[in-house]
Amino acid sequence: MKGLVLCGGKGTRLRPLTHTGAKQLIPVANRPILYYVLDNLKDAGIKEVGVIISPDTGEEIRDAVRAWDRKDGVSFRFILQETPSGLAHAVMVAGDFLGNDPFVMYLGDNLIGSGIADLVEKFQREGPDGMILLKEVENPSAFGVAELSRNGEVTRLVEKPQVPPSNLALVGVYIFSPAILQAVSKIKPSARGELEITDAIQWLIEKGARVMSQVLGRWWLDTGKKDDLLKANTIVLDDWAREEIAGEVDAASRVEGRVELAERARVAGSTVRGPTVIGEGCVVENSFIGPYTSLGEGVVVKDSVVEHCVVLAGSKIIGVDRLEDSLIGRNAQVISHSSHRSYRMSIGDDSVVEL
Ligand code: DAU
Repeated sequence: MKGLVLCGGKGTRLRPLTHTGAKQLIPVANRPILYYVLDNLKDAGIKEVGVIISPDTGEEIRDAVRAWDRKDGVSFRFILQETPSGLAHAVMVAGDFLGNDPFVMYLGDNLIGSGIADLVEKFQREGPDGMILLKEVENPSAFGVAELSRNGEVTRLVEKPQVPPSNLALVGVYIFSPAILQAVSKIKPSARGELEITDAIQWLIEKGARVMSQVLGRWWLDTGKKDDLLKANTIVLDDWAREEIAGEVDAASRVEGRVELAERARVAGSTVRGPTVIGEGCVVENSFIGPYTSLGEGVVVKDSVVEHCVVLAGSKIIGVDRLEDSLIGRNAQVISHSSHRSYRMSIGDDSVVEL
């Protein structure tokens, strides 16, 4: 069984954070979303992984995969998809790598609250041509949607339907036999101009192939918006944060609960309450860092209260009475000068400021 991770595409959904970066690399609890995907593939016993990359963000993805902290024993092939022409197009482009092997296809920006080893085992036991992971959602029209028979086999799939046939959305994890390679070569582009994997699976079903499903019992986050990302950060910190202090904490500070303080990070005159992760080289002075906060590498927080926030690398928060439920991009500065009664800003496109 091989793995195929999709990290191509346009990366426009998490604006402004992805104006310059790949959405698969947005950090949750200070690790790129992609790392949780790779963890799940490795934990399911998959040792050969193809990574679909785009001309825009391919280099960043390559660098991140090479820096993955669990890469021993897994080999990678980077496969360039010149245009974001759809998930089925990505499978087509990966044809040589996939050969005649079954494979797990995993969208690189999807985060799920469980592993996929059970799903892989079920596929191997039952030998269908496809297996899809589903989750009940409130807004199925935003996703691919499945209709099932009584025994859970998939009878129909539609991509982003106006009138959804069920509330079961396709989570971005699929397992296929090599039959999918024929299907992707037979379908035509959809109304949005993409070769849709849902259409390819539908083609298989119409040819009499067996496509099974499993409904995910735990959470799934399609990290499309600020609130989704904050929620993902909260859930992941709850599940995975450990108590691990590698950095420095001075005698005037208190660290409570599960706090990960990376190397060369420094906490002085402050309280840090877990679950919270503080990245390498951060400086926290005379501040309170509340639960459910992730500070990326090199973040500086001084004279501030920060709770339930994701602050990306290189940003500064200084003199801010209380910052909560916020997502701060890279190298941003939120600084309060108590002598000024006005606000002065330099805010990027699509930013939201709530005062
Ligand atoms: O998130 C789940 C949904 O993902 C499913 O419910 C839908 O059935 C499926 O079509 C997909 O919909 P999206 O419109 O959300 O897909 P998106 O364009 O965001 O792409 C998903 C991932 O695949 C993302 O990491 C980028 C990558 N990708 C996308 C395209 C279109 C590629 O690598 N190549 C591509 O050509």
